[in-house]
Amino acid sequence: MSERTIALVTGANKGIGYEIAAGLGARGLTVGVGARDDARRDEAVAKLRAAGVDAFGVPLDVTDDASVTAAAALVEERYGRLDVLVNNAGITGDQPQEPTVVDPAIIRTVVETNVIGVIRVTNALLPLLRRSSSPRIVNMSSSVGSLTRQSTPGGETGPIAAGYSPSKTFLNAVTVQYAKELADTNILINLACPGYCATDLNGYRGYRTAEQGAATAIRLATLPDGGPSGQFFEDDGPVPW
Ligand SMILES: NC(=O)c1ccc[n+]([C@@H]2O[C@H](COP(=O)([O-])OP(=O)(O)OC[C@H]3O[C@@H](n4cnc5c(N)ncnc54)[C@H](OP(=O)(O)O)[C@@H]3O)[C@@H](O)[C@H]2O)c1
Repeated sequence: MSERTIALVTGANKGIGYEIAAGLGARGLTVGVGARDDARRDEAVAKLRAAGVDAFGVPLDVTDDASVTAAAALVEERYGRLDVLVNNAGITGDQPQEPTVVDPAIIRTVVETNVIGVIRVTNALLPLLRRSSSPRIVNMSSSVGSLTRQSTPGGETGPIAAGYSPSKTFLNAVTVQYAKELADTNILINLACPGYCATDLNGYRGYRTAEQGAATAIRLATLPDGGPSGQFFEDDGPVPW
């Protein structure tokens, strides 16, 4: 087995996921670049390697059972275990998402990627994470999933959306359940909010860089033993539920 720490980041071909991969790689981790598109994945792996990162490509569509099973098999064959899983892949979904007019199919699609995709990937990789001495799981959430912020007048809550924002609330709730089930293991599982970052996801309207957005996830992916679990963080500390 490799002595290096092995990480897998989903949706790592661009945006915040790419920067998480780059940041973990710069800290000496070996990083699996999970991405569904062959060309975009190869390009990201080449760019990371050129920057000195020990990166490898992992074909991965989080909505596809066979793809996720094959991704887990690839990691097992190569390294026999996984130390860090960052569930970063996410979509906002089509518009409109105002609850009074949204097409339910849009909500299903968003939840399939942002919530069920995370469960599918996590459960496929859990047997490999259980073989690690310090397993870490980070789920990329958003402060728009905070019901406290959504219900606080003047809070930074993003556009009214029945799909995207509630999908992150759902992800938060599911992550708390994982943390409870895994409480007597050495697995730490937490949620990261990257802040509003300029990426494809929002047409580059964010005011932070993707690199800045990666910082909290990198911190949670490299927590020391005995660190928090089942919690939701942004740069400045905990995000209220
Ligand atoms: N940007 C922000 O301001 C912001 C704020 C809060 C939270 N977040 C969260 O941060 C995460 C990363 O967002 P981002 O801003 O970096 O977005 P992005 O630039 O649009 O990147 C999203 C990544 O997810 C991948 N992806 C989408 N669906 C997938 C699927 N079914 N299987 C595998 N990969 C899939 C995309 O791959 P393709 O290139 O193939 O589409 C891409 O690599 C998301 O979970 C997002 O909700 C972002």
